[in-house]
Amino acid sequence: MELDVNGKLHQLDVDPAMPLLWALRDHVHLTGTKYGCGIGQCGACTVHLGGEAVRSCLIPVSAVGKQKVTTIEGLAPDKGHPVQQAWIAHAVPQCGYCQSGMVMAVVSFLRKNPTPTDEDINSQITNICRCGTYHRIREAIHAVAK
Ligand code: FES
Repeated sequence: MELDVNGKLHQLDVDPAMPLLWALRDHVHLTGTKYGCGIGQCGACTVHLGGEAVRSCLIPVSAVGKQKVTTIEGLAPDKGHPVQQAWIAHAVPQCGYCQSGMVMAVVSFLRKNPTPTDEDINSQITNICRCGTYHRIREAIHAVAK
C-alpha cells in the first residue's frame, strides 16, 4: 500500500491491520512518534491524519487511504513551528517522551481554538505527561496564543 507521510509517498508491504504507529516507526523509519499505551489513552502516538490529530496506535494502516499523514518530523523544517518554538522557549519537556505527541495535539487544538483558556487546555488536551509538565505546557500554549 501507499502512504503519504510528510509530503512523501512510501510504498509499504505490511499487514493492513498494522496500526499506523508501527507503520510509521518500523517501516517509514520515523521514530518521533512514540508508543506509550497502545490503547488510545496516553496520546504519545499522536500524529495528524488529514490535518486532524489522531492516536496512531488505534488506526489500522489500511484506514489511512489517501489522507495525508503528518508526524512531528514533518511539522516544520528545523523545529520552526511556533508551537515547537514555544516548547523550546518555555523548556516544556522533562524526559521528553510524550512531547512529540503533545506538540501534535496542541497544534491541532490551537487551529480550532487559537486563544484557549486554561480550562479549554485542561479539558481538551488529554495527552498524558508522566513528568507532570502541564504547567509549562499551559504557559507555552498561552505564549503561542498571544
Ligand atoms: Fe497511542 Fe498511547 S500509544 S494513545
